[in-house]
Amino acid sequence: MKLSAFGEKFAGDSGIVELMDDLSTALIENPDMIFMGGGNPGRLPEVEQVFKDCMETILEDSQQRHSLFGIYQSPQGEKEFRSEVAAYLNKQFGWNLSSRNIALSNGSQSAFFMLYNMLGGTMADGSKRSIHLPLSPEYLGYRDVGLSSPFFTATRPKIGHLDEHLFKYHIDFSNLQVDENTAAMCVSRPTNPTGNVLTDNEIELLDELAKARDIPLIIDGAYGLPFPSIIFTEVTPFWNDNTILVLSLSKLGLPGARTGIVVANEEIIQAFTRTNTVTSLACGTMGPAIAKQLFRSGQITSLSRDHILPFYRERSHQVVKWFGQNMGNLPYRIHKPEGAIFLWLWFEDLPISSQELYERLKKRGVLVVPGQNFFVGIEDEWAHKHQCIRVSYAQDEATVKRGVEIIAEEVRKAYE
Ligand SMILES: Cc1ncc(COP(=O)(O)O)c(C=O)c1O
Repeated sequence: MKLSAFGEKFAGDSGIVELMDDLSTALIENPDMIFMGGGNPGRLPEVEQVFKDCMETILEDSQQRHSLFGIYQSPQGEKEFRSEVAAYLNKQFGWNLSSRNIALSNGSQSAFFMLYNMLGGTMADGSKRSIHLPLSPEYLGYRDVGLSSPFFTATRPKIGHLDEHLFKYHIDFSNLQVDENTAAMCVSRPTNPTGNVLTDNEIELLDELAKARDIPLIIDGAYGLPFPSIIFTEVTPFWNDNTILVLSLSKLGLPGARTGIVVANEEIIQAFTRTNTVTSLACGTMGPAIAKQLFRSGQITSLSRDHILPFYRERSHQVVKWFGQNMGNLPYRIHKPEGAIFLWLWFEDLPISSQELYERLKKRGVLVVPGQNFFVGIEDEWAHKHQCIRVSYAQDEATVKRGVEIIAEEVRKAYE
């Protein structure tokens, strides 16, 4: 088969494809594998029940059933749902949105593909512009989405030590690599993989900088505000005309519904909708049909507040404790868990690479994600890139506890 440059790039080897293949093959070969690798949300029975009730309501009503199965919705997403989202955000946060500020996508991953390539890469005049990540390590799913390369630039974080085993990345504002070739800045808040949550002050500084450069600030709220709100610190949802806020229903517990929600000014939403029409024709209906009921009933807030947030907050504390008990005096560090569903572990001066540690853990039946893939946009060599792993704590308690024990055993062996 002869491939185009596009084909070579997207059908060829890439970090995320290799990783996802590796994870799924490992699971097929060993169904008992302790899965601490992917981004699947935890199973919360109370939340599943609400989704089930919503689906039953839809299925019992002939009109709603037809809307769900039988028609293409507008490429921007069903208007009633977009109005519902806008009304909710206005009421909660005093934003000034209408349905024209909202567009849907088939998962936020595909929204990022479109947004990034609409803004960055090769410009109409042939010049190149990049997407800047002010705090890398960042979400590895961004890594390969650019239609041209190099596509991302990033600023190395400052590392703050909070205690012997706890650290935190900070944006190095004095060294931010943003210039006239930057098309947009993007941050995930909370950050996947680290669980870092940018403070209101950091977001405001980024916003000022973006406005001064006349480029958008993209906030990836897949785990964040206002829903599913997996954030353990006190921070405020942020949006203005220069912000592109990208939300998702996945981490509420609906990754199968593939629903992303983009909140932006009308010019961006219009451009985004056209792009989405070309690539997807229309958006899936299941996510909006369920979520419409959650917005109306207010459960979009209460599900997060009463079930989702407490589950991850308590679990994160528990898992940090388990690591403490099992690691003993090993030189491990954990990024302060401030949100999302992962712990980010750093083993300074580890005699093996994080890739080797990942391989050894896989042989022991534990899947984690090696850290080097997350340093998107940081191309130069840096030992730190090979000393970290990402561990999901979303699975059931006994599984996660056993996983922590095995990780500690393998890390001990590696240091010995
Ligand atoms: C930070 C972040 N952004 C975006 C996505 C994409 O999610 P989805 O396409 O399911 O909305 C993920 C998925 O894990 C993520 O972790």
